[in-house]
Amino acid sequence: LLLLLLPLLAVAAEAVPPNPAAAGGSAPPVPTPWPEQFHAVMFTNLTESGGRLQLIDLYYDWPRGRNLNLIHNQLSGDPTYDVEWTNGTSYIFDSASCRTIRFPVGVLPPDWLHGAVYLGRESTDGFDCHLWTKVDFVWYYEDVLTHRPVRWNFFNGMQQHVMSFEVGGVLEDSHWQAPSHCFADDATAAAATGTDAASSLLSGHTSTRG
Ligand SMILES: *[C@@H]1O[C@H](CO)[C@@H](O)[C@H](O)[C@H]1NC(C)=O
Ligand SMILES: *[C@@H]1O[C@H](CO)[C@@H](O)[C@H](O)[C@H]1NC(C)=O
Repeated sequence: LLLLLLPLLAVAAEAVPPNPAAAGGSAPPVPTPWPEQFHAVMFTNLTESGGRLQLIDLYYDWPRGRNLNLIHNQLSGDPTYDVEWTNGTSYIFDSASCRTIRFPVGVLPPDWLHGAVYLGRESTDGFDCHLWTKVDFVWYYEDVLTHRPVRWNFFNGMQQHVMSFEVGGVLEDSHWQAPSHCFADDATAAAATGTDAASSLLSGHTSTRG
């Protein structure tokens, strides 16, 4: 998902207004860069963007150039895999379907929040947090005490709450391999634009069935 959103972030970054606090002297807090590898469990609420609830295992693996969202939809037994490679190819699949999406950009770097605008302290999910925004595209909450991410919201109403955050958590190689039905002749290779694909993911429609 983050890979899909990167083109939007890149566009948004160009519109970053000058930070008023920077001129005033005392520098505002900056977001803690992500660890190079982590496993997080994300409670995801898509009701404001027309979807449902999801539990997502997020495996971020910057050194190996890959990012995986393992999406468990509520009351659904068949999880959806969203495997994003830094070369710009993403595979979105479940046991029956697969979609391949290509982007010229890769996985978000650990300092992807660099340049975010500080909005102050706010309590969310019961944690005292620093809050930043990347130009009205993502709102990012980080725990003041532990510097762990607590929550992030996207512009369309998608809300993700970090339920666990395991620094160094990795997933073994075999789980990253897209299945053979992604490579069959009749596989749906969607040359979607970044915006279309991000929109479809953000609304919770993560797989096309042909
Ligand atoms: C999901 O988000 C909606 C809209 O913000 C909210 O009303 C609802 O309580 C949330 N559900 C859960 C389970 O967090
Ligand atoms: C990107 O890497 C993945 C995983 O190694 C591979 O399946 C895919 O074909 C590569 N895409 C391109 C455009 O080289």
